[in-house]
Amino acid sequence: MSERTCLVVVLAAGEGVRLRSRKPKVLHRIAGRSLLGHVLQAVLAAGATDVAVVVGPEHETVVAEARRLAPSAQVFTQTERRGTAHAVLAARKAVEKGVDDVLVVFGDTPSIRRETLVRLRKALAADAAVAVLGFRKADPSGYGRLITRDGELTAIREDKDASLEERAITLCNGGLMGLQGRTALRLLDQIGDANANREFYLSDAVEIARKHALRTVVLETDEEEVAGVNTKAQLAEAEAVMQRRLRRAALDNGVTMTAPETVFLSADTVLGRDVTIEPHVVFGPGVVVEDEAVIHSFSHLEGARVGRGASVGPFARLRPGTELGEKTKIGNFVETKATVMEAGAKANHLTYLGDAHVGAGANIGAGTITCNYDGVSKSKTEIGKGAFIGSNSALVAPVAIGDDAYVGSGSVINSNVPPGALAIARGVQVIKDGWVARFRALKQMQKKQ
Ligand code: UD1
Ligand code: MG
Repeated sequence: MSERTCLVVVLAAGEGVRLRSRKPKVLHRIAGRSLLGHVLQAVLAAGATDVAVVVGPEHETVVAEARRLAPSAQVFTQTERRGTAHAVLAARKAVEKGVDDVLVVFGDTPSIRRETLVRLRKALAADAAVAVLGFRKADPSGYGRLITRDGELTAIREDKDASLEERAITLCNGGLMGLQGRTALRLLDQIGDANANREFYLSDAVEIARKHALRTVVLETDEEEVAGVNTKAQLAEAEAVMQRRLRRAALDNGVTMTAPETVFLSADTVLGRDVTIEPHVVFGPGVVVEDEAVIHSFSHLEGARVGRGASVGPFARLRPGTELGEKTKIGNFVETKATVMEAGAKANHLTYLGDAHVGAGANIGAGTITCNYDGVSKSKTEIGKGAFIGSNSALVAPVAIGDDAYVGSGSVINSNVPPGALAIARGVQVIKDGWVARFRALKQMQKKQ
């Protein structure tokens, strides 16, 4: 396959009005990645040599997302929505270049898999001029119907234009299409708009190809894979499909999950072997968990690396820039942000560590807070290896605690502590013997008066 060149045209001019959102449809996210991002990832994995993204007018944010994910993609604007074939022709310049395979995919169909795009390409390599993705549905209303004769695809009829007989067909058009580069433009240019919608239908390419005695084929797939997102409910369904796939891949890779249906992953989550994920854990984008680490229940992680054999949670929150070394421990109600914990360091309870570097084997007591923000700027806290921070201490950054130093409980530390020293910064304890009896006697007397 690699020797064949392939242009993928991604149609992303959809408005997303029915999502009731100001955001263009293809920028909505599932599994931490935009719909467009999922499509582009499948497209690039399927060996696309050229990518053209067709956007609507005033879609600068879509253009930016396309450029971020596929820097070499060409972007074209479809100024008027006049149908799927019209949208493909907005990218005429890219099609004219003359590649072997042209694939047309929809930006709002995020569950499309690399393997399926490769199947379409194989059909083109085997000399089909047009390859269509079909699926079967008991209630096919709304979809284009695939009309076959003697097992061969002869036409696609859009729902609105279909006869009663054609409407009874349950084999539907998934929408995505492969066109052989050699004949693609010739077919596209012959598509007209004489139909109920006065639109240029990409699906008409099939009938036109047949007129030229070219081969057209249908490849079947699941409805789930070609389901488009037009509403928030469909967005949630696409999320469910993606989560099922990601959980399954993690389990197949050796991750242990007792209740996988309660664990939410991002498309880019990387989980090592023998990682254990307890129920109810959420992974935002950018998380890597190395082998044998355990993520306990109700933890939320994003932009974090968890080292081999580390333990996180229950109820931990790892924010972007967190790096936990080997066998570190982050316990309940601990939040970390832009913080590095070297091997074996621990923060077991009720702590905030922000913009901090914690040396190997250091122990952060319950209730420790790094005061990293003064309302204007952020400052760093450096905690040396083997240091011991007593419970309920505030470390006012910028500040450094030396290696093996101790900080007494309840301290507010705002100047550096040398290595091996003890720092105590709190009120001195006063003992008044017999004070309670004297106090109560006084109160009783006052009450009687
Ligand atoms: C399309 C197919 C239909 C198929 C269905 C599967 C055509 C004519 N019909 O219908 O056979 O069963 O998908 O879901 O292809 N778009 C543009 N510009 C346009 C029109 C559409 O960019 O002018 C984009 C949309 O944003 C969307 C995609 O093309 O991502 C499909 O368009 P849509 O209007 O959803 O087509 P359907 O009516 O669903
Ligand atoms: Mg649609």
